[in-house]
Amino acid sequence: MSDDVQRAVDALRVGGLIGLPTETVYGLGADASNELAVRRIFAVKGRPSSHPLIVHVASADEARRWAGAWPVEAEALARAFWPGPLTLIVKRSPLASDAVTGGQDTVGLRVPSHPLARAVLEAFGGGVAAPSANRFGRVSPTTAQHVRDELGADVELVLDGGPCGVGVESTIVDVSGLAPRLLRPGGVARERVEHVLGREVPLVSTATDVRAPGLLESHYAPRAGLWLVTAAQLEPEAQRRLAAGAKVAVVAPLGVPMPAGVTAFEVPADDAGYARALYATLREVDARGLDVVLAVPPSASGVGLAVVDRLRRASAPRGP
Ligand code: TXA
Ligand code: MG
Repeated sequence: MSDDVQRAVDALRVGGLIGLPTETVYGLGADASNELAVRRIFAVKGRPSSHPLIVHVASADEARRWAGAWPVEAEALARAFWPGPLTLIVKRSPLASDAVTGGQDTVGLRVPSHPLARAVLEAFGGGVAAPSANRFGRVSPTTAQHVRDELGADVELVLDGGPCGVGVESTIVDVSGLAPRLLRPGGVARERVEHVLGREVPLVSTATDVRAPGLLESHYAPRAGLWLVTAAQLEPEAQRRLAAGAKVAVVAPLGVPMPAGVTAFEVPADDAGYARALYATLREVDARGLDVVLAVPPSASGVGLAVVDRLRRASAPRGP
């Protein structure tokens, strides 16, 4: 075991918080069986304690210990996509405390594929509760430096696993009810989930009572105001904002003509590449002090659905 992994495991054992790289985004991890440690996650994130956390484990066998029931859909999806960017919502076992589940009778479980996350989980043995390692409502971190910048003072250590390969959060599928539902589009394309289950998996709207903050309007948001535009709207919108004196950032797939006078952020034109670049780009917009982001989204298929979802939430009206 490497020194870093050993230090991370030691920190978890004494109730500390760690910055944990995963293939999706960096997590803010704590021993899921230690209620005090779990409460610290909420305090550091500034997240309401009723919002449940995902428990990360080393294997599907370990996941089943946290589940009170393991339906055939869970088994099929775990076999197809674990380790990987998929979170399953199942009925909880007594291992999953109210602190982790926000008092719900279900628990979110995920076996990540990132080699460092796997090494930590295997050496630790138990479950690691980890939300994305950002302050509540803000952009998720995709590098160790993002975590250090935002939460550095509040964590024991940040493991550096390089830039995240997927770049958006896991796909969340709720298999705890009568019919599977998609709670959050993410790194596993909805089409692939539907293919494995052999049925349609509806995306639940924000109007439901599911307590998933990733489903709130205005989430994943940079400080700059963000607007979604089509490639055709880009030029006139940019000129209008520039004429009003705004410092304008444009995020658009390679190949879309960039208006003059804007700060251009070209992202890969394929959906996976766009996803990988998304959050680092939004952070860079803020780091450069730009006021306005005009974003040309990818098509809403494959992982592109997750990108469109995050851009839409980043563009939602902010609360008071
Ligand atoms: O890719 C990911 O999922 C990352 C990495 C670190 O694994 N984690 C992540 O965690 O995005 P977080 O807390 O930022 O988002 C998890 C989402 C939240 O919207 C939460 O409410 C929802 O999962 N969730 C967790 N447990 C749930 C449950 N029992 N029922 C419904 N939603 C749940
Ligand atoms: Mg999050």
